[in-house]
Amino acid sequence: MTDLTVHLTQTDIVRGLRSDVLTGLAATPKTLPPKWFYDARGSELFEEITRLEEYYPTRAEREVLADRAGEIAELTGARTLVELGSGSSEKTRLLLDALRDAGTLREIVALDVSDAALDQSVAVLRDAYAQAAVHGVVGDFTQHLALLPGNAPRMVVFLGGTIGNLVPAERAKFLSALRDNLRAGEWLLLGTDLVKDRDTLVRAYDDARGVTAEFNRNVLHVLNRELGADFDVAAFEHVAVWDEREEWIEMRLRATRAMRVRIPAVNLDVDFADGEEMRTEVSAKFRPERVAAELADAGFALSDWWTDKLGRFGVSLARAD
Ligand code: SAH
Ligand code: AVI
Repeated sequence: MTDLTVHLTQTDIVRGLRSDVLTGLAATPKTLPPKWFYDARGSELFEEITRLEEYYPTRAEREVLADRAGEIAELTGARTLVELGSGSSEKTRLLLDALRDAGTLREIVALDVSDAALDQSVAVLRDAYAQAAVHGVVGDFTQHLALLPGNAPRMVVFLGGTIGNLVPAERAKFLSALRDNLRAGEWLLLGTDLVKDRDTLVRAYDDARGVTAEFNRNVLHVLNRELGADFDVAAFEHVAVWDEREEWIEMRLRATRAMRVRIPAVNLDVDFADGEEMRTEVSAKFRPERVAAELADAGFALSDWWTDKLGRFGVSLARAD
């Protein structure tokens, strides 16, 4: 096990899960927040998704970072790179290499809810960047921004389009909290997937091999293991729909028969009707104007905006005002 700073213990995780399950499964329609996908298996499945032919966001974002990392290093002169929802930190290495080559890199902070993902990525980062102090932080980017280590100037990177997994009110709260925890002149590098045709989007979230379906159903395994629930995981099918009005992809799990599920840790029986759908994730797709407006509302000044050649994915560099 790698040495990690833990702001979310197993007890905190189970407490948070119980609270989200009590709220989300009592609601109509039923919902679960997407952060619960990411146990060790969920993190592995996400990595498998990033390698699918249909799932373009990772490749598109990597293209931008490969083209622009040198420029980003020069513009920011960052001494500390803080990555939120870091996962494997694989694309981040393009930025880290550029900061190392520019001679400014001193500290790396990787924060994720998934200790399994961090355990691997922090070991790789420590090996690759021996000149920098590498901090792995098990935490929630909606709760633990005030506890991040690292000396200024920092560049916070939030990649993959993960900001789109927050609904608009959560995004506004997150961006303002982030701004409040930065000094004026520090940086945010933000990856956002862009609005595009429905077919491309639905294919990316409903791949032919069913990896995304397995990722989606993984949340039920998490509930079974952590809360002693008795979900018949195979009785739920994966659904991905493009909501044109909200401009987000919604992932749902559809019950293929009527059933009652017992969740002992919260003393709850949950009834599903045949065909009932539970929302497990939104993945918002952005227009450039919306990214600029949300950043400005939170107190960031947009410095640069780049996309891949096909215009599928946007990366913005913004300064805390
Ligand atoms: N940044 C990587 C991984 C994206 S997957 C990439 O671009 O490929 C989303 C990551 O965010 C996962 O590793 C997941 O564990 C993490 N995550 C999801 N919700 C989180 C939260 N609320 N706080 C911290 N990490 C979170
Ligand atoms: C992590 N996040 C940006 C991914 C996305 O595309 O919204 C999670 C994911 N869900 C299904 N496939 C990938």
